[in-house]
Amino acid sequence: MHIQLFLLLPIIFLVLSLVHRLSRAVFSPLKDIPGPFWARFTKLWYFRRVQKGGFEQDNISLHQKYGPVVRVGPNQYSISEIAAIKTVYGTGSQFAKASWYDAWKHPAQWTVFSDRDIKRHADTRKRFTNLYSMSSLVHYEGFVDHCADIFIERLNEFADKEQSLNLGHWFQCYAFDVIGNITFGERFGFLDRGHDIDGAMNALNKVLTYSTLAGIYPEWHPRLFGPLSRFKGSGAGGRAYIANFVREKIRSHELKKTDPEAADESLQNQDFVDKMISARNKNPEKVTDYHLFIMGQSNVAAGSDTTSISLSGIMWFIMHNPEVLRKLREEIDEFTLQGKCSVNITFKESQEMPYFQAIMKEALRMHSATGLPMWRVVPAGGAEIDGRFFPEGTEVGVNAWVAHYDERVFPDAKLFRPERWLEAETSPEQLKEMNQMYMPFGLGSRTCLGKHISILEMSKLIPRLVKAYDFTPLRKTWMTENYWFVKPTNFEVYVQKK
Ligand code: HEM
Repeated sequence: MHIQLFLLLPIIFLVLSLVHRLSRAVFSPLKDIPGPFWARFTKLWYFRRVQKGGFEQDNISLHQKYGPVVRVGPNQYSISEIAAIKTVYGTGSQFAKASWYDAWKHPAQWTVFSDRDIKRHADTRKRFTNLYSMSSLVHYEGFVDHCADIFIERLNEFADKEQSLNLGHWFQCYAFDVIGNITFGERFGFLDRGHDIDGAMNALNKVLTYSTLAGIYPEWHPRLFGPLSRFKGSGAGGRAYIANFVREKIRSHELKKTDPEAADESLQNQDFVDKMISARNKNPEKVTDYHLFIMGQSNVAAGSDTTSISLSGIMWFIMHNPEVLRKLREEIDEFTLQGKCSVNITFKESQEMPYFQAIMKEALRMHSATGLPMWRVVPAGGAEIDGRFFPEGTEVGVNAWVAHYDERVFPDAKLFRPERWLEAETSPEQLKEMNQMYMPFGLGSRTCLGKHISILEMSKLIPRLVKAYDFTPLRKTWMTENYWFVKPTNFEVYVQKK
């Protein structure tokens, strides 16, 4: 009798689960929102699609087929509407990050990127936003120049040997070393060795895959994380590895800087951790050791892949559009002649080159680093989004790729046309719409903290590359892999000195 009951239990569980799924689908007030059939009943549909690694394209196709609001899971809706973007991500929005972000942290900790607590997040951001501000960039410029110089040395070596290189990989070496230099005052050394040191890149890759997929079933994350952390090859292991890596860097940094007050005197040479240590020593309640750790970790985790992907995107589009390359070189030459473009182009100089700015903007439109919807939860009481009521607890999200390929705002969206941004300057309404739909760095209160730093890194490198080298891509198309970041995997090129 007991054995029969024991055998029956899973069947009862299965039937109850099916009844629950069916009734949720039938009685949902959002049941008329279109989408793939199985997405109505199970998250497995979304999980499988994301697992394939090309969801940014799937997501665009779904909107082309079903319209501006599409169901991708029983309680998840992907949206592509300006009005929705404002409601969900706009200033003062109460739409917290959804549970997908839980898998991006240690189950017992919180970090700035994954924090779902609106109040705590706002408080953390307020404390550190100045470290990432435009006015802080001037302190970081030297760190970037140093890495750009070494990058150029490596390129010269490849050019001399007439050997092809994976530019995407080398951009990652650059971005890693720059973020190490800015954050801890020392490069990781990727640009010297050209290969993954201590498995840090690999660990980060594992984190991306693990967190992207585990986040779809966040209830599993606390159970998986502990056992998996023991394996360096797992995503959870990768996270533990990076955390230790950052702790070690901070520890050795503190040991070196025996006199932080003295360091204070030379703001110009201070790295990010220097600045945080000074602030902690002055006000240990405002800036704690935990803050020091999470901000250091965020920089490494959020600041390397994203920047290298964006650099790849920019160079890819320049290489495949000879007319754009010609105009850019013309602009650089003109500015150089007028003494407005130094050898190590300054951030300020780069900001004044309109065509270059338009190229960066257009490349990040066409190849945004993040390629999944940025999920948010409808707050208590529900919300009206673009004229439709969504009950509280519903998850909604906009994928930057969907927004950027929306033909209503970006006609001929598949064409790389930096000119579209310059032309729109004469039509303020159109430019406003384009900017509202433009989200490579996210939006609102959760917009990228490192945006200015990454623009600094890109602005100081691209003109130098375009000026000094001819690049020949080995392929007409590239392969990408989307585990939150849409990473090119085979961006190989030949490089020749001009
Ligand atoms: C071109 C390079 C970059 C791109 C495209 C990019 C993109 C993004 C995006 C889309 C978000 C919002 C994600 C969301 O809402 O789910 C974000 C957040 C964030 N990014 Fe970046 N990022 C870049 C570089 C950096 C760098 C260099 C750093 C650090 C130095 C950084 C640190 C962060 C942090 C800390 C957050 C979380 C902000 C918060 O939740 O308040 N990012 N980034």
